[in-house]
Amino acid sequence: MTSHLLTGIGELVTNDPSYDGSLGVLGNAALVIEAGEVAWVGPQAEAPDADTREDLGGRAVIPGFVDSHAHLVFAGDRSAEFAARMAGESYSAGGIRTTVAATRAATDEQLAAHVARHLAEMRRQGTTTVEIKSGYGLSVRDEARGLAVASQFTTETTFLGAHVVPPEYADDPAGYVDLVTGPMLEAAAPYATWVDAFCERGAFDADQSRAVLRAGMAKGLKPRLHANQLGPGPGVQLACELGLVAVDHCTHLDDADVAALAGSGTIATLLPGAEFSTRSPYPDARRLLDAGVTVALATDCNPGSSYTSSMPFCLAVAVRDMGMTPAEALWACTAGGAAALGREDVGHLGVGARAHLAVLDAPSYVHLAYRPGVPLVLDVRA
Ligand code: NIG
Ligand code: FE
Repeated sequence: MTSHLLTGIGELVTNDPSYDGSLGVLGNAALVIEAGEVAWVGPQAEAPDADTREDLGGRAVIPGFVDSHAHLVFAGDRSAEFAARMAGESYSAGGIRTTVAATRAATDEQLAAHVARHLAEMRRQGTTTVEIKSGYGLSVRDEARGLAVASQFTTETTFLGAHVVPPEYADDPAGYVDLVTGPMLEAAAPYATWVDAFCERGAFDADQSRAVLRAGMAKGLKPRLHANQLGPGPGVQLACELGLVAVDHCTHLDDADVAALAGSGTIATLLPGAEFSTRSPYPDARRLLDAGVTVALATDCNPGSSYTSSMPFCLAVAVRDMGMTPAEALWACTAGGAAALGREDVGHLGVGARAHLAVLDAPSYVHLAYRPGVPLVLDVRA
């Protein structure tokens, strides 16, 4: 088995708090990769021998980003809807139906090529683990094939049949929930790890969302939820009641929601790309962190409300406008995303972790927020 030694790491972010109590940052560090895993980390002066070695010239190395929330199975373009919003129109989740029509019309090969292109785009920006949701098929056939496509690329696949009620069920939302919890779930479950619902006014209420998550859990899927994105609502409380590992968006929260998150241990995944692209107020990460809530950050990459694939962009916004420090934001984009997916093998660079890392063309991870919009990811190993 060959080992590979990386030296000259000016700043190594391990996310192992035993080093420094927070991000586990080591200066002048080295790291050994063996069989795809981190075999050794420490000061360069103490580095062991290895079969091959490479000097990184003082650059920073971080764990690969873990994007725990992305809607990559889609076709079509909604740039005109974005332009209209920037001209003053408000965002409505109803636009999802435009993407549903385009997605249904696409072939499996077209959908797979589209996912592959977006994953390559993400990787170039330092992302090494991605969750992929269905939710633009909304029929038994189209949800199942969307998840079959997603499962070619990641084990973190999420069944989101409960995204919105499709036009053909507009007069029978209860019938649609029966479809989602019955035949659609049956067809989707073999390709899915997670089950999700969009708990929001205009999408699904708390009882409908609970029914969808419970049905998915009975099929062995792990539950997660979109909640409190467009306005206040019962979703965050429902997530805490069900003990979900993570609840996503969390933009409109009252004190009881924050207390419930703090008390339940449910992670709040914040998706600032959605607020950016809908010109809405950002979620208050500082309030959550100060209350003791664990915060993750993800892109929500989708063609309607957040068409960014960039974790560095989300990190920079979270630092600039959501009250996070650069260290908190980087943790939320790496270890936080991993925790939101229940993963212990990614999101950190401790011994035994997968050797998923990004080399920055910068001396410190702080540059990710300090130099917004600059393509600092020089190289990705995964
Ligand atoms: O996460 N919240 C619901 N779903 C997406 C929006 C999808 C769309 O507009 O196409 C989201 O923001
Ligand atoms: Fe989403």
